[in-house]
Amino acid sequence: MEYCFNKKKYFKMLHKNFKKIKNLHIKDFFLHDKNRFDKFSINFMDIMVLDYSKNIINDETMKFLFKFAKEIKIKKEIKKMFLGKKINKTENSSVLHIALRKPCNSNFFLNKKNIMIKIKNCLKKMKNFSENVINGKIRGFTNKKITDIVNIGIGGSELGPKMVNNALKDYKNHLKIHYLSNIDNNNLIDVLNKISLDTSLFFIISKTFTTYETIKNAKSIKKYFNKKFYNNNFFYKHFYAISNNKKEVIKFGINKKNIFKIFKWTGGRYSVWSSVGLSIMLSIGYKNFLKFLDGANKMDNHFYETRYNKNIPVILSLISFWYNIFFNADTEAVLAYSDRLSKFTKYVQQLNMESNGKNVDKNGKNILYNTSQIIWGGVGTNCQHSFFQLLHQGTRFVPCDFISFVNNNNKIFCEHNINLLSNFFAQTKTLAFGKKTLKKNIKKIEYCKKNLKLYKKFLGNIPSNTILFKNIDPESIGALLSMYEHKIFVQGIILNIFSFDQWGVELGKSLSNIIYEHLKKNKKINHKYDSSTSGLIKYYKKWKK
Ligand code: F6P
Repeated sequence: MEYCFNKKKYFKMLHKNFKKIKNLHIKDFFLHDKNRFDKFSINFMDIMVLDYSKNIINDETMKFLFKFAKEIKIKKEIKKMFLGKKINKTENSSVLHIALRKPCNSNFFLNKKNIMIKIKNCLKKMKNFSENVINGKIRGFTNKKITDIVNIGIGGSELGPKMVNNALKDYKNHLKIHYLSNIDNNNLIDVLNKISLDTSLFFIISKTFTTYETIKNAKSIKKYFNKKFYNNNFFYKHFYAISNNKKEVIKFGINKKNIFKIFKWTGGRYSVWSSVGLSIMLSIGYKNFLKFLDGANKMDNHFYETRYNKNIPVILSLISFWYNIFFNADTEAVLAYSDRLSKFTKYVQQLNMESNGKNVDKNGKNILYNTSQIIWGGVGTNCQHSFFQLLHQGTRFVPCDFISFVNNNNKIFCEHNINLLSNFFAQTKTLAFGKKTLKKNIKKIEYCKKNLKLYKKFLGNIPSNTILFKNIDPESIGALLSMYEHKIFVQGIILNIFSFDQWGVELGKSLSNIIYEHLKKNKKINHKYDSSTSGLIKYYKKWKK
């Protein structure tokens, strides 16, 4: 039976509520309810608090959103994921990144097989390997200890590990971790300039082992490595593969025992919990990696067990839906007030926009409503000196997520952290409440013959969710990522889209291969380019040195 949310009873009730409150101001809600924070905040295991009170919502909004969630049976869809059903229909696969962070002594039966055995074995292999690299037992062919790890991968094979390692930098050991992803030779050269080959290990991370950038970079490094040491026999000691495509890995020349498996039911942008996270384990150690997994598992349990009105991912998803459909919010800003989360926005961009940036629904019908918002953002307080002008005084309606940590791991210059959190609190407040027009005694300014106050209005009414963690540690980062994964999953349920495939990235890849032949070999091919592409290629050929 075809589903579309706008046919639902509580969607219509939400529409009525929207018409009632759309012209109210966030400050009005606080004026009429002194306990608004208590009502619209949730304490997650005393490691994090979600404050969603600075949103354009009232009790009725939330009541209807929760009834809407019940009406469209979100819980039923969540259960399907947790039971291993093939919810990734277009790829005929289960979606089980949640299994990767379950306790190893638990069971998870998929098609009557307990997949926790395989997961446990994979984790054990990662543990033994990482410990032996860290303690110096595993060495390069010159018998020197390993100093550098090169993660060769793109998209989910880079963004998650890179972001987590940056977030947990304070837990790292002596190993230097480098990320090579772009096909741009500058990325490759920059990495090679930072390492010595004989004390480095190279991990080719690709679930498909066909991603062009990754394989090209891997081949170039392999060739460079063999040429440098005039010998093809040392390569196997330094090159590893993390993949689901064993055949291609062997063909590349990787030694069988140097392969770490990615399971079919692990999506690329959901793979940081798998062997794709090996660079994290190498950097922060096995015990901290387990804590990272455990933080995510705690959020998984919360997501699975908690009723809608106390369920953090569900609430974030419903509020996002509320702004997307009723307020036509085209974008959402993710603002991390922690330099350790400087890579977080890029991670959430792939998670959100590659999952829900779709225009065909589960019935194969073209979608006429907006699906994924455009996710953007940055790091505070820097973003206050770049795009916050637009947030405060622009014409755009941009719901924001503000994320920060009460304690970080450094014990000097601690007053800086008080400054950081003061800005964190001040910005969400100013965005929400705005600022009364300034006193009358503003001096006149010549060129506009009006009071400066006309240009110093802060209208406010920009909504935000505040996500405040107690500490920045492996458990909290795990919980943070799981929270966003499930928020995005629920949005896909509501929007009636398949969130776990990514067919939209195929066309660009295949066309680039055709153009590559044209550019590289100067071949005359019968591909009739449009005048723009032809014109640009002509410039390329004219200017290429
Ligand atoms: O962007 C498409 C995509 O398939 C992502 O989903 C994935 O994270 C990335 O490319 C890399 O894919 P692979 O791990 O197969 O190299």
